[in-house]
Amino acid sequence: MAQGSLQGGVVRAIMKFVLGDEQTIICETTMTDQSRTCLPQTLKLGDIVLDAPMYQAPLSGYTDRAMRSLARQHSAPMTFAGVMLDKITLHPKALRKPVFAVGENEHPIGGQLLGSNPEQMAQAAKALCGIGYDLIDLNFACPAPKVLRRGRGGALLQNAHQVIAIYRKVRETVRCPLLMKLRIAYDDDTAYRDAFWTIAEHAAADGIDALVVHGRTVLQRYRGKADWQILAELKRRLPGMTIVGSGDIFDAPTVVQRFRETGIDGVLVARGAIGNPWIFEEIRAAVKGDLTYTPPTLYEQGQVILEHWSRILQLYPPKKAIPYFRKFLANYCRRHPDRKKAQMSLMAARDPETLTLLIEQWYDL
Ligand SMILES: Cc1cc2nc3c(=O)[nH]c(=O)nc-3n(C[C@H](O)[C@H](O)[C@H](O)COP(=O)(O)O)c2cc1C
Repeated sequence: MAQGSLQGGVVRAIMKFVLGDEQTIICETTMTDQSRTCLPQTLKLGDIVLDAPMYQAPLSGYTDRAMRSLARQHSAPMTFAGVMLDKITLHPKALRKPVFAVGENEHPIGGQLLGSNPEQMAQAAKALCGIGYDLIDLNFACPAPKVLRRGRGGALLQNAHQVIAIYRKVRETVRCPLLMKLRIAYDDDTAYRDAFWTIAEHAAADGIDALVVHGRTVLQRYRGKADWQILAELKRRLPGMTIVGSGDIFDAPTVVQRFRETGIDGVLVARGAIGNPWIFEEIRAAVKGDLTYTPPTLYEQGQVILEHWSRILQLYPPKKAIPYFRKFLANYCRRHPDRKKAQMSLMAARDPETLTLLIEQWYDL
């Protein structure tokens, strides 16, 4: 289907392709610069098709039910719980803890696993599917020193064979969509760069449904800028594979730029969503061509902060809730016109009632 329009002397042709597998791509051609840009509108992860090319990343210590439900309310098409250690999920009693629970309205939701033993990872994946997770992601990316010391997460990028053995066993065991979270290498050593390509190429041939790649090395942790050139190269080398990119996604214009530069299928919204659930609406609009984003008013921000706070209070005892919520407050305050003062005041609250009152005061509720 193609539509043409003339706007301010610029001919714009919007072509909408509906592919057999339900993926839609909007292509826009401007006759002035001859540039042709294709922005994906959906994201296919095995038999799950999201109606936007992005989702909420797993973020340990953040993506609990409170953050996930707010993300969904603000139009994230899917969320992930934080990474879970395989052997913990193998204890049925542990798995019944509220922290693992999937809410009725949360589908589709992803569960992510950390571990190094193929059989244990496979059984853990089965257990997560059994309690309602709709898709599984295997974490070969985590750079935390205690994870690396135990040979898990990003440490496994030193050993392509082990990664392949793990995902093959999991693939054999569960039928749900199976993703792998990678970084671009363990470090800059050529042997590790090669290991990344070995893993990616095997995964594509072995029925992994998507590769989710954070454009930094493991030892780089969060330093420097994410390398999106490798994401572009990955898509070029494996055009049939769903590729989801991650790294420094803090606003919608960046998402549009990354799609244009790389041709990948989706992006992961990670730190950019902490204290900023509006980012999902912003990205949804931007990939449809609308970059005229209207930020939330102070009053709207306050309403969301209060809502988030009340959900936190339902999940945690007050002693834990206050320090936990401060991590979010620091980011919420970034939008406040009197940021420093608002943040200092909110951070000083020592009991739930005071914090509620202060949020109401600072946000004119
Ligand atoms: C506090 C924190 C917790 C994270 N937890 C996870 C996790 O549980 N699983 C995972 O795959 N990545 C995790 N990540 C990595 C993010 O999902 C993402 O790949 C990374 O932050 C890069 O994206 P960004 O620069 O847009 O934040 C975490 C990152 C941060 C900052």
